[in-house]
Amino acid sequence: MSSTSLKLLSLLVSTLAIVHITTASDPDILVDYMAPNNATGEFFTSTSFRAALRQPPPPTFTVTKASMKEFPALLGQSVSYAALQFPPNSINPPHTHPRSAELLLLVQGTLHVGFVDTTNKLFTSTLETGDMFIFPKGLVHFQHNAANNHTAMALSAFGSANAGTVSIPTTLFNSTIDDKVLALAFKTDVATIQTLKKGFAPK
Ligand code: GLV
Ligand code: MN
Repeated sequence: MSSTSLKLLSLLVSTLAIVHITTASDPDILVDYMAPNNATGEFFTSTSFRAALRQPPPPTFTVTKASMKEFPALLGQSVSYAALQFPPNSINPPHTHPRSAELLLLVQGTLHVGFVDTTNKLFTSTLETGDMFIFPKGLVHFQHNAANNHTAMALSAFGSANAGTVSIPTTLFNSTIDDKVLALAFKTDVATIQTLKKGFAPK
């Protein structure tokens, strides 16, 4: 094969690989659903948001998930939900979802939201009840209820039955990454890193 054909072939292979990566989602199943043989309508029903939607709001930021772990009928369906409850002055700390974008619908209150793209550009918005915001797949994002006296509640939809969550503060400061590595990464000293890690110690 000539070197020009080889170059063309490798260009084609890498283009196909990129297309595959950018279109990757949950694997398609070759059956209608994944359920036990004796499944009834109950198997396809989740009641896990009843408390979030009916009871008084919790005192700290709370996520209630309906992903394939909590709701096994979602396996193979490439969708899931989370209910997010924000007391006054609370945050959902910066985090990412490695396997899906997140479409947030604010059903109560106001909410300051934002994400940072791969060029480090920050996009923010202040949502009112009824507004939606899309957090693109894999990007670091946060939500903040800045109101002093109002709770906020949102429902988030995901294009994966198991979007996954990587919390940035927890991953960095509640893991066993060496203090020296973190001190170098954050251009600070080990004592400062240890102070940050103490915030995650069991109370
Ligand atoms: C919201 O951002 C969530 O992680 O569920
Ligand atoms: Mn999220």
